[in-house]
Amino acid sequence: MKIDAVFGSPLPNVTISADRYLIRPFEANDLALIEEASRDELIPMLTTVPADFTPEEGREFIDRQNGRLSSGEGWSFAIVDQSAGRAVGQVGLWIAHLAKGRAEIGYWVVESARGDGAAAVAVDSLSTWAFENLDVDRLSLFIEPWNTASLKIAERAGFEREAILRGWERIGGSGEGHVGLCPAAPGRPDMTELVFASGRRRRSRSRSRGDTSSSHCPRSITEVCRRLS
Ligand SMILES: CC(C)(COP(=O)(O)OP(=O)(O)OC[C@H]1O[C@@H](n2cnc3c(N)ncnc32)[C@H](O)[C@@H]1OP(=O)(O)O)[C@@H](O)C(=O)NCCC(=O)NCCS
Repeated sequence: MKIDAVFGSPLPNVTISADRYLIRPFEANDLALIEEASRDELIPMLTTVPADFTPEEGREFIDRQNGRLSSGEGWSFAIVDQSAGRAVGQVGLWIAHLAKGRAEIGYWVVESARGDGAAAVAVDSLSTWAFENLDVDRLSLFIEPWNTASLKIAERAGFEREAILRGWERIGGSGEGHVGLCPAAPGRPDMTELVFASGRRRRSRSRSRGDTSSSHCPRSITEVCRRLS
């Protein structure tokens, strides 16, 4: 039976087991994960992970993630590598448009755990869980076109590129705890939308190293701004 999930109403706790990974709610002892994530060049820019880590900011991040359940925004999970005995990343399922049959996924993995498949397994198993347990027709991922690693992970998890959305989102804008350094003009960077729609699942698990020459990962918010102006 499907979960009667409604945006804005409390959601149930969920834990998903996937290969050697456990997708579970954040716990107080996940602080080391947040500390490493705060040192990443991209994660604090794209999420509410604090750029300047303190244990208090880390605890607030964890509280915020678990608060998403009571506020009914969606599920924010820690990705736990059970063989390593530690949390290695985050994967979230956001349901603001669930009444229309749509939901969004987002994710990150800390640098010390990359190259091991955690994100692809987490996104794949969360997508499967969502289709099985929620009344959803379409899962979306929104990925900056230069984020080659993330695009590869999405496709490996069964998502297909659907569109380039022009001027989709501000990076380094006025989000919680983010520094608003971007110039107002010329506006927002593009975003690649990848979808995983029910009934049409494609598998692309080849790990061939393709041409990555067009990828460009910004070193800082300043560089993002320079590329925009
Ligand atoms: C996206 C992310 C989760 C991927 O981590 P991961 O699952 O461990 O992925 P990997 O490091 O194995 O990289 C995946 C692939 O991209 C390639 N890759 C990694 N960084 C790259 C770069 N800067 N340019 C080009 N290719 C890159 C890897 O070689 C690998 O290719 P292969 O599997 O074909 O050999 C991680 O980089 C991350 O958290 N980034 C910051 C936050 C983020 O971008 N989140 C997604 C927002 S949409």
